[in-house]
Amino acid sequence: MSSANKKILGESPAVKELLGLIGKVAATKTNVLVIGESGTGKELVARMIHDSGPLKGKPFVPVNCGAIPESLIESEMFGHKRGSFTGAIADKPGLFEAANGGTLFLDEVGELPLSMQVKLLRAIQERVFRRVGGNDDVRVDIRIIAATNRDLAGEVAKGLFREDLYYRLNVILIRTPPLRERKGDIELLANAFLQKFNVKLKKELTGFEVDAMLAIKNHPWPGNIRELENVLERAVTLENGTTVSLECFPSNIMASALQRAAVADAATAAKAARDNRITAPEIRLPAPDFSNGAISLDDILGEVEKTYLLSALEASGGVKKKAADLLGITFRSIRYRLTKLGVESGDAEVSEDESEA
Ligand SMILES: Nc1ncnc2c1ncn2[C@@H]1O[C@H](COP(=O)(O)OP(=O)(O)OP(=O)(O)O)[C@@H](O)[C@H]1O
Ligand SMILES: [Mg+2]
Repeated sequence: MSSANKKILGESPAVKELLGLIGKVAATKTNVLVIGESGTGKELVARMIHDSGPLKGKPFVPVNCGAIPESLIESEMFGHKRGSFTGAIADKPGLFEAANGGTLFLDEVGELPLSMQVKLLRAIQERVFRRVGGNDDVRVDIRIIAATNRDLAGEVAKGLFREDLYYRLNVILIRTPPLRERKGDIELLANAFLQKFNVKLKKELTGFEVDAMLAIKNHPWPGNIRELENVLERAVTLENGTTVSLECFPSNIMASALQRAAVADAATAAKAARDNRITAPEIRLPAPDFSNGAISLDDILGEVEKTYLLSALEASGGVKKKAADLLGITFRSIRYRLTKLGVESGDAEVSEDESEA
C-alpha cells in the first residue's frame, strides 16, 4: 500500500499530540475512529497504530467501504460459499478472515449503506459472522480501525448512520488536523517531499526560491498533505534549475500567492495612509502667513518646481529628456526651468539633437 513505511512528519503541537495519542492506543486493541479531511493522513495514522503495537507483523487489511458496489460488500467483507450467488464459483474467505490476528481498516466507513451497517455491527460486536451462503459461524480476533472524512455524529443525527455502530467504532476518536491548522509544518513537509522526489526522479534540487516557499506557505491547501505532495512531485518533475521556482507550481497556487501578496500590499498601503506616513518625496508648503507683510508666491512655486524637477531627474538617472517626459514638459522647457532656478542637474549629457528626436 501507498503509505506503508512512511512516517508522520511534523513538529507542530497538533502533530505532537497526534503522535502521543497514537503511541497510547497502539498498545491496546481498542477500536479507533479516525476523522479528518481528505489528505490529512488518516490511513497513515491507522498504519502507524498497527505498526507501533503488538499487532506489528500481523496482517493490516484496508478496505475502502465507498469503493465496493453495494451488492458485493457483504461477500467482500465476510466471504461466501461456492454457489451462493451467480459467479461464486468457489468458497472464498472475506476481508474479516484475511485480517484475522491483525487490523481491519474500514476506510470511508461513512459510505456504508444502512443494510450493511447492521451486519457489520454484529460482526464487530461479537467477532463472529457467517460467509454469504454459509451456515457456520466464523470467529476472528481482529482490531477495527475506521476512518471517515464525514461528520459522522451529524450523519447519526440525520439517521444516515446507525448510532449503535457509531459508538462501537468510536471508542477512541483521533482527529487528523488539516494542514491550515498546522502551517508551521509546511516548510518541513515541503523539504521532506523535495528530498523524496529528488530520489524518485533522480534530481538534485537543493531547495526553494524565496517566492516559491512564500507561495507554499500562503496557500490554504484544501487537499491537505496529499495536495502538497502532488504539487511537489509536479514541481520537481518540471524544474530544470537548481532550486524549485514559483513557475513550476500549478496556476492556482501561483495565483493564490499573488492574490495574497496583493491583499497584503493593499493592507500595508491602507495602514500607511492611516498612519499618515507618506513614502514619496514630501513637499512641505509653508502655511500662508501674511502677518509679517508680503510673501513671494514666485519663491514658493519655485520651491515646488525645484523639488519636482530634481525628483524627475533622479528617477530618470539624470537624463533631462526622460525627466521632461515624466513631468509632461518639453526638453526645451526643462532646460529653461533648470537654468532659471539655477539647478545643477549633474546631467548625463545628452545632445540636443538626440533628445529632441
Ligand atoms: N504527517 C504526515 N507526514 C508525512 N506524510 C504524510 C503525513 N500525513 C499524510 N501524509 C501523506 O499524505 C498522503 C495522504 O495521506 P493519507 O492517504 O493517509 O490521507 P487520508 O486522510 O487517508 O486521505 P483521503 O481521505 O483522501 O483518503 C499520503 O501520501 C501520506 O503518506
Ligand atoms: Mg484515505
